[in-house]
Amino acid sequence: MSSDPLPCHALVLFGATGDLARRMLWPSLYALHREGLLPEAMRLVGAARKPLAHAEFVEHVRAAIRSSGNAGLYDDTTFEAFALRVRYVAVAVGEDRGLDAVGPALPATPGGVIYYLATGPDLFGPICLHLCAAGLVDEHSRVVVEKPIGSDAASAETVNEAIGSAFGEHQIFRIDHYLGKEAVQNLIALRFGNAILEPLWNSNAIDHVQITVAETVGLEGRWEYYDHSGALRDMVQSHLLQLLCLVAMEPPAAFTASAVRNEKVKVLWSLRPITGAHVASNTVRGQYAGGYLEDRGVPGYLEEEGARRSSDTESFVAIRAEVDNWRWSGVPFYLRTGKRMKQRSSEIVIRFKPAPFNIFAGIGQSLSANKLLIRLQPDETITLSVMNKTPGLNELQLGEVPLNLAPTAAFATPRRRIAYERMLLDVLRGNPALFVRRDEVEASWRWIDGIVEGWRSAGQGVRPYAAGSWGPAAAAELIERGGHSWNE
Ligand SMILES: NC(=O)c1ccc[n+]([C@@H]2O[C@H](COP(=O)([O-])OP(=O)(O)OC[C@H]3O[C@@H](n4cnc5c(N)ncnc54)[C@H](OP(=O)(O)O)[C@@H]3O)[C@@H](O)[C@H]2O)c1
Repeated sequence: MSSDPLPCHALVLFGATGDLARRMLWPSLYALHREGLLPEAMRLVGAARKPLAHAEFVEHVRAAIRSSGNAGLYDDTTFEAFALRVRYVAVAVGEDRGLDAVGPALPATPGGVIYYLATGPDLFGPICLHLCAAGLVDEHSRVVVEKPIGSDAASAETVNEAIGSAFGEHQIFRIDHYLGKEAVQNLIALRFGNAILEPLWNSNAIDHVQITVAETVGLEGRWEYYDHSGALRDMVQSHLLQLLCLVAMEPPAAFTASAVRNEKVKVLWSLRPITGAHVASNTVRGQYAGGYLEDRGVPGYLEEEGARRSSDTESFVAIRAEVDNWRWSGVPFYLRTGKRMKQRSSEIVIRFKPAPFNIFAGIGQSLSANKLLIRLQPDETITLSVMNKTPGLNELQLGEVPLNLAPTAAFATPRRRIAYERMLLDVLRGNPALFVRRDEVEASWRWIDGIVEGWRSAGQGVRPYAAGSWGPAAAAELIERGGHSWNE
């Protein structure tokens, strides 16, 4: 990057009418505008295929904000000022001159342009090449790309090559919005801002780690897209492995993008490959059948809108992973994600080893091992469970009590933010620390590819689970074989 980059004066949002833009990006941009965090003259150019009049698009953006998690921030006066920034251009990626409208929509003054690619991943390469050919990329430009980057290591390399032919790696921001969540950043602060955890943060004190991303939603009309992907590619390759990296990485030398990402990629290189015969014993694939969620009947995967009669795509996966290095040798990392599960819950559980001896056994008291629980959804909290005496004069009785380490306990937090607000602000500031570097993407795909190949060669099919459950029984068996159980 130039040592003195020009401030950004425009953001072009490709996919401006899509689901992600509607639910997350416009509401986040509005919140940043409202808090005075967007550069004053910054223009926001929406780009999509539909021919839309300016006023029509502005109403679309207004409706998006009013129906989002940031709806409470809406007021007419602020929105009218925000709308002055907004433009709309119709584009057709893949067609000659399909991006011709973009250049004229940019401000004439010098400044950097952020291109946010919230389109299908097949368009990332073509958009970058078009922009470059049209002379719209210079050293002040940045590009933000959504997951997934490719569908295996080879295709990720192709996409990365195409993006890289237009933008330098320092200009590319590969977003994983989980890293924008307060609880995830607080995990980094807890680990590296305190000395007390470090002596415990290894195989001497930690028994195992669980990472769960459970969704109650089904496919929400996206059967075709999802069926090409499945839970392993859609969730594990990105969100779950990124969370695993933050738990397992060594302390970076500084809180800089390259130092943090160097440590994260080393974790990915240390993941023990799960291939061949090891795939069956270390992974479980599932697909939901019909069932009940909150007393409401919901259809099975194959009965969803747009579904084909048969499919071997997993909507659930559980994995027992291991990080082969000095810190983590012998500590299982259990990963689990699925759709139509019993509860919406994203969390990391660090289970410490049990006390070496229970002095309370003689008075009938059992001990639970300490647990650090980092919850990302539905609420963002961090708690450390410890054994405590229950109050009173009765004979000593023990109970497990969660100590709240979440920032809300200590700091006044004005509101819960959409994770994209943080990520967009970091792009504006040119800080890629919370974004995923090319080598991370490709290393995680290589690990995923081994599992996919193992499934294919062993013919490991999907096991049915009832919608509204915690997945197939085999997932419970997977963790119980190690003497553990899922945190549910
Ligand atoms: N939705 C989410 O929650 C979510 C979460 C994480 C990542 N992502 C990723 O974010 C990206 C966008 O997802 P989405 O759910 O928002 O998709 P979507 O609802 O299908 O929207 C796609 C957008 O791309 C535009 N588009 C499609 N083909 C185009 C073309 N040839 N030229 C120009 N524009 C074109 C569409 O414009 P028209 O409407 O005019 O056709 C629309 O604005 C995907 O890569 C997805 O994997 C989405």
